[in-house]
Amino acid sequence: MKSHIIHYQTNNTSTIIETGIEKTMITKQHIIDWIEDCAAIFTEKRAYLTELDSPIGDADHGTNMARGFAKAKEKLPSVADTDIGNILKTMGMTLISSIGGASGPLFGTFFMRAGMAVPSKHELDAEDLQNMLEAGLEGLVQRGRAEIGEKTMVDAIHPAVVVAKTAVAKGCDMATTLSLVLEAAEKGVQATIPMIARKGRASYRGEQSAGHQDPGATSMYFIFRALFDVVTSSDASNNG
Ligand SMILES: Nc1ncnc2c1ncn2[C@@H]1O[C@H](COP(=O)(O)OP(=O)(O)O)[C@@H](O)[C@H]1O
Ligand SMILES: [Mg+2]
Repeated sequence: MKSHIIHYQTNNTSTIIETGIEKTMITKQHIIDWIEDCAAIFTEKRAYLTELDSPIGDADHGTNMARGFAKAKEKLPSVADTDIGNILKTMGMTLISSIGGASGPLFGTFFMRAGMAVPSKHELDAEDLQNMLEAGLEGLVQRGRAEIGEKTMVDAIHPAVVVAKTAVAKGCDMATTLSLVLEAAEKGVQATIPMIARKGRASYRGEQSAGHQDPGATSMYFIFRALFDVVTSSDASNNG
């Protein structure tokens, strides 16, 4: 159920948001819905992501993500009564143990560290969101050592974190912050197309990796899109 109208056009330089809620919080229910939506999205996008992983990888990324988030969803009921920090940490550990490949520990670390940045919280404001994303990126980079421009998921999340910081510094509300984060991640995904991979399996292809969209960056974008959709299209923020 859409309760707010959001005009979101990625090709525009500015994003227009019309929402009645100035200060939306991310609630625990949003987080639970987010993980469930990710599970649905990765099931739906399994073939597409695997297709992206075919020319520059080993054609398993879609299967990896679908399996990981199905497990995360299964695990949700056991932690739903706890706090957001613990839910995200548990999701991260579940992703690490179930996705496998190079990307499992990376997505898993992202969620784990994001959770550790918001301990004991039952709702999050835009600053918490920024802290979460920043901590998640930091963990991911510590683990994978990828820099921006090396054709990895970092190319989707790094610009998103930069934009989140700016949005929070300007006092943007949650919906605006999330829409800007999503827009930055989408541009980041597009930017991976001409890049030559320097990390992961795709780097084995050298210059032949250019001209292909990075699957891991694409998954990161889907994760952000799910969060944006859940937070901006539900009433959970009002109902707790
Ligand atoms: N060192 C790294 N840092 C960040 N992301 C990486 C790194 N290595 C690989 N990736 C990401 O992992 C994705 C591939 O994931 P996946 O296919 O699930 O694992 P694998 O490469 O083991 O088959 C790539 O598209 C890239 O975004
Ligand atoms: Mg692969």
